[in-house]
Amino acid sequence: MAVRPILTAPDPRLKAVSTEVETVDEALRALIDDMAESMYAADGIGLAAIQIGVPKRVIVMDLDQKSGKKNPRAFVNPRIVWASEETATFEEGCLSVPEIWEDVARPAHIRAEYLDREGVQQSLEADGLLATCLQHEMDHLEGVLFIDHISKLKRSMALRKLAKAKRLKETG
Ligand code: NI
Repeated sequence: MAVRPILTAPDPRLKAVSTEVETVDEALRALIDDMAESMYAADGIGLAAIQIGVPKRVIVMDLDQKSGKKNPRAFVNPRIVWASEETATFEEGCLSVPEIWEDVARPAHIRAEYLDREGVQQSLEADGLLATCLQHEMDHLEGVLFIDHISKLKRSMALRKLAKAKRLKETG
């Protein structure tokens, strides 16, 4: 396993549409393990493969880290098969958009289908943080960042703040 660097906006690779995984094999499980390790190293709760530069439809997530035990979940080729009209608003952040937090409204309840790390078909009903996090990560598979959901003004302010932080890091 290895910690891999996480791409940050405006890296154009984050705009790529990821492709379906054809086979869940040892190579894919190695990718999943690297993703989990990279997510934990960066103190994140979710990560899509494209965030480490791999354009495949793979997500890892762990929402229970506060209890101290690591329990990473993998979602391969996830699809949302139903979403509620009711929305919920959470303040979101993203490892690829560091230091920026903004409210985003998304469907409050979803039903999703995916393959697990063994390649077994699974389905899931989710609400709360799990629903939001899954939708946020699935956006990455389409090349969409959470700041694409906020107003143009807020987005350009966020990107400017990010660029400034990057410059400070490079010079300082
Ligand atoms: Ni993200």
